[in-house]
Amino acid sequence: MAFKILSALISVVAIVQGAIASPPLNRRLFAIREDLQKNLFDGGQCNAEAHESLRLTFHDAIAISPALEAQGKFGGGGADGSIAIFSEIETGFHPNIGLDEIVEKQRPFINRHNLGVADFIQFAGAIGASNCPGAPQLAAFVGRKDATQPAPDGLVPEPFHTPDQIFDRLADASQGEFDPILTVWLLTAHTVAAANDVDPTIPGSPFDSTPGVFDSQFFVETTLQGTLFPGDGPNQGEVKSPLRGEMRLQSDFLIARDNRTACEWQSFINNQTKVHDMFQFVFHDLSILGQDINSLVDCTEVVPVPKPVVGRTHFPAGLTIRDVNHACAETPFPVLPTDPGPRTSVAPV
Ligand code: HEM
Ligand SMILES: *[C@@H]1O[C@H](CO)[C@@H](O)[C@H](O)[C@H]1NC(C)=O
Ligand SMILES: *[C@@H]1O[C@H](CO)[C@@H](O)[C@H](O)[C@H]1NC(C)=O
Repeated sequence: MAFKILSALISVVAIVQGAIASPPLNRRLFAIREDLQKNLFDGGQCNAEAHESLRLTFHDAIAISPALEAQGKFGGGGADGSIAIFSEIETGFHPNIGLDEIVEKQRPFINRHNLGVADFIQFAGAIGASNCPGAPQLAAFVGRKDATQPAPDGLVPEPFHTPDQIFDRLADASQGEFDPILTVWLLTAHTVAAANDVDPTIPGSPFDSTPGVFDSQFFVETTLQGTLFPGDGPNQGEVKSPLRGEMRLQSDFLIARDNRTACEWQSFINNQTKVHDMFQFVFHDLSILGQDINSLVDCTEVVPVPKPVVGRTHFPAGLTIRDVNHACAETPFPVLPTDPGPRTSVAPV
């Protein structure tokens, strides 16, 4: 059932499922939310900890493999908290580099509140994302079973993986029902993201020029011709970016240009409704991978409704349609204004 494409036009209004939360449970979650906002997210900011908490949801949840199970091996438990419960093992896995920091920042919150680790990780990601204008209100379920063993290594995508490797991994995790365009929907998260460890000489290098806004700039800027390495690149998994200070992952670059996904990628540009709705849809399924939705309680109402997106979709200053690598053969590239001023450079977050 995970990641099922019900039709070309999904009604995201219909995704709310599960039992109704009881008042005491909601009160508990409101207390956790207040604590997180005050003491992890700088009073409700789309800050580095909000970005890292969102990344953590993916790295916990995606570690599930029916293919390994079919070979008689343990395939991981999905969104089961294993990345924090067995952090000494899992944060040592190469793709999880840097996540030890957010795991240790979240741990005191887990210790002082009464919520499972698996539930906490997904909840913190949803609250963190809610601080980013333009983000959807992400699903918050409670009642997941916590891990009793660590996930195996090798299940989290790396930026140096090919599109085929990434599509195959996501297809396995979503148990067969999969289309490569869902990768594009998932990668919307990279609109509020930066890299600390791809090039450790320039920690906090964002993937777009608006890492504090959940907008479509990530989709615009990844289509632009790469011209420079922001730090001492090339590093493994890194390709040239179009802007000083901006990091570009090889995987984002290739999936933006792959003929199975390029048109889907382009379709997010200048379509905030799509950015909002599609990520809301995939996060719902991602956040419960390996869990039985019928035993979970839907507490999404505790997640703040994010502010609307600020600004309009644009080319960064100094760049135009002439700088686009137009990879979608079917559809013209959207017409966008160019920001005024000297060529944009991006500050670390
Ligand atoms: C599918 C292939 C994906 C690959 C190869 C990938 C790879 C990466 C890499 C290399 C980084 C930088 C890490 C660092 O150096 O600090 C990163 C950051 C991030 N990723 Fe992904 N990612 C993928 C999918 C996703 C998905 C589905 C989500 C959804 C939750 C996500 C959310 C994030 C966020 C929010 C950050 C920023 C973290 C920060 O600012 O500290 N990624 N990703
Ligand atoms: C996509 O590109 C590959 C490699 O260039 C090619 O073999 C394939 O036929 C193309 N598929 C479509 C749908 O255009
Ligand atoms: C934006 O995306 C939605 C959902 O895919 C689609 O129905 C709508 O037509 C798109 N809007 C524009 C202006 O392209």
